[in-house]
Amino acid sequence: MYKSHTCGELRKEHVGQMVTLAGWVHRQRDHGGVTFIDLRDRYGLVQVVGDPSKPELSVLQQARSEWVLQVIGKVRLRPEGAENPNMPTGQIEVEAIDVRVLNPAKPLPFMVSKDEDTDEVVRLKYRYLDLRHERMQKNLILRHHVVKFIRDYLSDRGFLEIETPMLFKTTPEGARDFLVPSRMQPGTFYALPQSPQQLKQLLMVSGLDRYFQIARCFRDEDLRGDRQLEFTQLDLEMSFVHRDDILEVVEGLFTEMVEKILPQKRLLASPWPRLTFNESMERYGSDKPDLRFGMELYDLSEIFKSSEFMVFQNALRAGGAIKCIVVPGCAEYTRREVDELTTFVKELGARGLASLALSAEGIKGTAQKFIKPEEVSAIQEKTGAKTGDLVLFVADKLTIVNKCLGGLRLLFRDRLNLADPAVLAFAFVLDFPMFEWKEDEKKWDAAHHPFTMPKMEDLPKFNTDPSQILSDAYDMVLNGYETASGSIRIHRSDIQQKVFELLGLSEEEIHEKFGHLLEAFEYGAPPHGGIAPGIDRLVMIFADEPNIREVIAFPKNQAGRDVMADAPSPASEKQLYELQIALNLRKE
Ligand code: AMO
Ligand code: AMP
Repeated sequence: MYKSHTCGELRKEHVGQMVTLAGWVHRQRDHGGVTFIDLRDRYGLVQVVGDPSKPELSVLQQARSEWVLQVIGKVRLRPEGAENPNMPTGQIEVEAIDVRVLNPAKPLPFMVSKDEDTDEVVRLKYRYLDLRHERMQKNLILRHHVVKFIRDYLSDRGFLEIETPMLFKTTPEGARDFLVPSRMQPGTFYALPQSPQQLKQLLMVSGLDRYFQIARCFRDEDLRGDRQLEFTQLDLEMSFVHRDDILEVVEGLFTEMVEKILPQKRLLASPWPRLTFNESMERYGSDKPDLRFGMELYDLSEIFKSSEFMVFQNALRAGGAIKCIVVPGCAEYTRREVDELTTFVKELGARGLASLALSAEGIKGTAQKFIKPEEVSAIQEKTGAKTGDLVLFVADKLTIVNKCLGGLRLLFRDRLNLADPAVLAFAFVLDFPMFEWKEDEKKWDAAHHPFTMPKMEDLPKFNTDPSQILSDAYDMVLNGYETASGSIRIHRSDIQQKVFELLGLSEEEIHEKFGHLLEAFEYGAPPHGGIAPGIDRLVMIFADEPNIREVIAFPKNQAGRDVMADAPSPASEKQLYELQIALNLRKE
């Protein structure tokens, strides 16, 4: 028996008991004649004490950080004044009777017992050590609870968890595929699924009307704080449902999850707010609004329709808009501070930023001389801006205006601490456009994916104005992140065909890529729809972490490398020979 108890579980009730513990040396202190060791395992820390001059206890002194020890000892109350109220085991200690080294350890590249600012590369290279940190263990434990809750909740409601293949065919979600060469059919490739999208729809054709899967997805795209090459979705699909049936399942699931496993968090609102895509863009300048605070965008185009400010006039003439946000209490910003904000919006594509400071000494700011007193009053009336506030304007194409002011809104969220970290502002964004025009490729692209159902009433617009077609697609957003996407699907092959055609796929490509799906839809496909919440992003937000790496056991770095195992790495000659692959590397 290696251990009778875990390090974290011992309490006052155990006083007097003989225990056997096994764990790592977290910290060691010598106090002339007595040595203290904090022994650590996944469950916590416990203080072990002993006199190292006794031969059977000499290990207490020899042991170094992160050695693996087995301790046999007796639980006793700590002497008065020596209790540690910050430690769950802080009232007791284990008086060592025998201590054995199960395995010594080399000095570590960083301390596990201290929260140091260890270099990211070092953390990832020694990820297995990094995961010894309490913070990382907490994150992985939380992730386990989240996934377990999902499995239980959905199983209780008749959902079946079904695995789908990793070696499959391209399933477009807007990213590049990862390809896997086939040895048995040389020259051909599987694609790792960007999501199980096609497969879950095929399961609906099979009649398995409530499906879910904790599914690994693979996308070859640039990494960001909330993006990895491989990540995990709660993938879900249902038959004979309308949009609201799916949203209700998801809202119910996460509402109950927050109640049960995230007591330190609370929901902003129940039922969750719902916004259309257009409303979200108009009010927050984003399709993933952080609803924990206000600072909405206001459209002032009407107020400025006869403005004498050339910048504003030009924007309106070119079919653009003038919008603003009101920053509370920042009227005294210096010229330099406003210039920094201008640089920020210029990087997002704006030509400039105009400001109006409602200072106690009067109106100031870069736009002061261009804005008439009656326009100032109209702005105040519309936005509620008051003395002490700073009004920031962008005049441009509407998409740029929204992007810049939406960006500023988040900048001030962080700078002025406007969002309560304990609040989870779940919301649904609905009625997304069906298509996006890709200017560089001069073609239409699916805004969600090509299996999304266009709004029936918009079908005639396929031939007139595809940009105006809305779809039955929806996102679940949380605190400024897109945390899930889904849609009602096309279950009629004629509509599916129309979508593929608009996307510029030839008959041949359609047949080659999606022939199986289109054929399946001809054998009695039920109306169906689904959604896929991103587990990594959700757990990241639940754990108050800034990057999904912190909630993934073995993530890739920014360059897409596993620096611990050093992957990707070259294949051997033999492997390439078997695959009949010859490398033809471009000289960069
Ligand atoms: P979508 O592509 O929007 O939809 O993905 C759904 C959710 O998955 C998460 N996500 C990611 N998380 C980490 N790293 C990434 N690279 C990454 N990409 C996406 C996000 C996102 O909201 N098949 C559809 C869903 C459906 O229609 O049912 C799909 O995959 O949280
Ligand atoms: P200018 O007339 O170019 O000197 O600009 C006067 C003020 O308007 C400066 O503060 C600019 O930063 C600002 N400005 C310029 N272009 C825009 C724009 N597109 N939207 C908002 N403000 C702008």
